[in-house]
Amino acid sequence: MSIAINDNIVDEIKSRCNIVDVIGQVVPLKKTGSNHKGVCPFHNEKTPSFVVSETKQIYTCFGCGATGDAIEFVEKYYNLEFKEAIGKMAAQYGIEIKSASPSDGKREELYEINREAATFFYKAFIKSNNIGYNYMKKRGIDIATLKKFGVGYADSEWDSLYNYFKAKGTDVKLLIELGLVSESKGKYFDKYRNRIMFPIINTRGKIIGFGGRAIGDDQPKYLNSPESKVFMKKNNLYGINLTRQDIDKEDYAILVEGYMDAISLYESGIRNVCASLGTALTENQAKLLKRYTNNIVLSYDADVAGQAASLRGMDILYKENCKVKVLQVSDGKDPDEFVRKKGKEAFIRLVKEALPYVDYKIYLLKNKYDMNTTEGSIDLLKESAKILKGLTPIEAEAYIKKLAKDTKISESAIRFEVNGLNDEPVHQRQQYEYENENSVKELLPIDMIEKNIIKILLLKSSYINKVKILENPFLSESGKKIFNMIVSITRDIEEVDIRKLQDSLEERERNILNDIMENIHLGGKEEMIFNDCVHNINNRIVIRKERDLIFRLSMADEEENIEKINEITKELMELQKLKNVDRR
Ligand code: UTP
Ligand code: MN
Repeated sequence: MSIAINDNIVDEIKSRCNIVDVIGQVVPLKKTGSNHKGVCPFHNEKTPSFVVSETKQIYTCFGCGATGDAIEFVEKYYNLEFKEAIGKMAAQYGIEIKSASPSDGKREELYEINREAATFFYKAFIKSNNIGYNYMKKRGIDIATLKKFGVGYADSEWDSLYNYFKAKGTDVKLLIELGLVSESKGKYFDKYRNRIMFPIINTRGKIIGFGGRAIGDDQPKYLNSPESKVFMKKNNLYGINLTRQDIDKEDYAILVEGYMDAISLYESGIRNVCASLGTALTENQAKLLKRYTNNIVLSYDADVAGQAASLRGMDILYKENCKVKVLQVSDGKDPDEFVRKKGKEAFIRLVKEALPYVDYKIYLLKNKYDMNTTEGSIDLLKESAKILKGLTPIEAEAYIKKLAKDTKISESAIRFEVNGLNDEPVHQRQQYEYENENSVKELLPIDMIEKNIIKILLLKSSYINKVKILENPFLSESGKKIFNMIVSITRDIEEVDIRKLQDSLEERERNILNDIMENIHLGGKEEMIFNDCVHNINNRIVIRKERDLIFRLSMADEEENIEKINEITKELMELQKLKNVDRR
C-alpha cells in the first residue's frame, strides 16, 4: 500500500489509539497505580518489568530498555516499517487514510507562506521604536518571551505584506486562502493592519494561522485566521508547541482562554500553560492535551462568560477521563491581569486551591440555593444527584458522604436519589454510561452512540440503510422514535427534511433532536465515527452488564456479603473474558 503519511494522520492515530489498548491486545497488562505492567515481549523475563504509561502514552521496559510510543510499539512488535505500522493501526481503528494527493504538497506550501509572513511581522516588530513592540513592552512582556512566541507586528499600511509576497511571486490565491490578503474591486490589500501578530503553531512547529490583536480600538479586537487546510482551530491549542515539555514535566496544564493569558503566565515563570483561544474547548483539544497530562486546571476569565466556558470545558475534559480543576482568579478579570498584579507565587496558590470538577459544580449550586432552608437543601440535593449520577460509583459515594454532612440529610436518602434517577446524567465519562440492563428498557436515556448515529443520518441520509441492518442500534425509546420518524419521512435518496422531522416529533424527542443538531459535531468524519458507533453498539450490551456488575459489587461491599461478592466477581470475570475474545 502506498500511502502519504501526513502530520494529520499521525496525530489522529496518536489521539485515537490508546497505547494501553494497543499493547493490551498482545501483552496481558495489569494496572498498578497509574501505570500498567506486563511481561516484556521484547526480551525473556518472568517477572514483569514492562511498564505502559497511559498518561504519557509511552511504554518502557526496565529490563531491556525498550521504549517508545504506540506507533513504535507496533513497528517493533510486528516488525513493520513506520508506514506499515500506520496503515495497520489506521485500519484497525477505522481511521481513514487518504492516498497521496496534490493537496499534501500544497499544505507544505501554505505552511511556508505562513512562516514567511511570521518572519515578516517579526522583523517589523523588532524595528526600533515600533508601535507594536512598545505596546507589548507596556503590557509587561519581555523581548525574550515575545521572541519565543514569535510575536510580530503588522504595520498600518494597506499593502506591505501583499507587496512583499508579490515581489517573491507568491500565488495571491494562497494568500487569500490563508486570510492574509483580501481582494476588493480587483485590488488586493493586507487583512492585518496595525495589529500585534500572534502566530499559532502546531506541535510540529508549523505555523498554521495567526491571531492579530488590534492596538487601537479597531474591531474585532482579535482577528483570527479563517479555517483552512492548515488551520483547524478545534484541533489546536495556542502555546502548546512551546509548553508541552513543561506540561509533561509538571504533569498538569493550566488552560486559559486568551493569547495574552498564556504569554503573561509564561512570562511570570508559569510555563505549563496553553490557551483554547476563546472558543468552547473541543474534544480534539482535550485529546491533544491528554498526550502530555491528565491533569488540567481551567483558568478562564472571571466573568460570567468565562464561568460558562469553564463548565462546558470541564464536561468535555471529564468525558475524556481527565482530572479537571477550576481555578478562579480573585483579582483582575483574567489570569493575565492577576499574575501581573500579584505575581507567580500568588497564582500558584490559586492553582493549589482550585476546585475539582464535582466540587466546583456543587460549589456553584451551593451559591444558588439557600442551604439554611429545607427547600434549598432539597433543591441542592436534587441538582447534585444529577451530577453524581454521571460519576463512577466510588466517586459518587465519596460525594454522597460529603453532601450528607453538609445538608444533614441521610446518606441513604441521597444515595437513593442518585441511583433512582433515570434522567440522562448531566455529563458522563467516556466509557461510563452505567445503566442497568434489566431496568425498564423504555427509560434508558439516549447515549452518545445513538446521538452520533442520528447526527450522521441528518447529514447523510444514505446511512439510513446501513443503520437498518444493525442489530439493536437504538436502546433508548427516544432514539428509536427519532430513527423511525426519520425513516418514515425520508424517501429514497432525498436528504432528511429537518423542519419536517422537528414538526413530527413529540416535545421530548424534539428537544433531543435540537440538542443533537447543536451539540454533536462530527468534523466531517461521518464514516469513521459511524464505524466506531457500530463497534460500540456491538460491545455495549456486554459493557452495560459489566458496569452493572461493578456497581453491584461496590454496593455489596457494604452488606459484607462474601458469598454474593464471590458470585458477582465470577460473573464479571466470565463477562470480561467474553469482551477480550471479542477484541481479537
Ligand atoms: P479576551 O477579550 O479575554 O482577550 O478574549 P485577551 O486574551 O484577554 O486579550 P487582551 O488581554 O484584552 O489583550 C479571549 C480570547 O478570545 C479570542 C482570542 O483568542 C482571545 O485571546 N477572541 C477575543 C477572538 O478570537 N476575537 C475577539 O474579537 C475577541
Ligand atoms: Mn486579557
